[in-house]
Amino acid sequence: MSNPSASGSHASAEVAARVERRWAMLAVALVAVLVAMVIYTGLHWAMMPPSRVETIRPESLHVAGEFVESNLGSAVESDGSVTVRVVAQQYSFTPQCLLVPADTPITFRATSADVVHGFLVTDTNINSMVEPGYISTFRTTFERPADHLMPCHEYCGTGHQGMWAHVKVIDKAAFARMAAHSRRLSCVK
Ligand code: CUA
Repeated sequence: MSNPSASGSHASAEVAARVERRWAMLAVALVAVLVAMVIYTGLHWAMMPPSRVETIRPESLHVAGEFVESNLGSAVESDGSVTVRVVAQQYSFTPQCLLVPADTPITFRATSADVVHGFLVTDTNINSMVEPGYISTFRTTFERPADHLMPCHEYCGTGHQGMWAHVKVIDKAAFARMAAHSRRLSCVK
């Protein structure tokens, strides 16, 4: 129709209003669902906080306890798994090169001596923060020998871009041979 009548344009305005109302209702419903999710997860976590939060005094890391320098690196547990203890500080990780066996459950335990750092192991799903005062724990298994980079990916100061370490995954049997001679292992030369 080249020249719509007055009643025709009135009808199309009504259609437009109806469509607009539907979209508005959809948007309101979406917001309502999201708010409900926020309230639900908030209450859920308030009633069920994370089962274990481990704290540690960052100022005395080097003096006593799990993260003294002689206890850092990889340790074989009685069940055959390996625990790797790491300290992050401006602007390095200790040890700078973590040595782990392939095909073995690995538990990383990391903490920070100063500020918040990032803990990321390339080609794995390990991607977290390392916070002073807390112990961050991650578990993984490396399928095969490889070298992984471990950059700090949380801005921690002027030397941040130079803060990174390596994870060297070696053959399980070779690791076992080295572990027989040393209580704590790393690949720092
Ligand atoms: Cu440590 Cu960025």
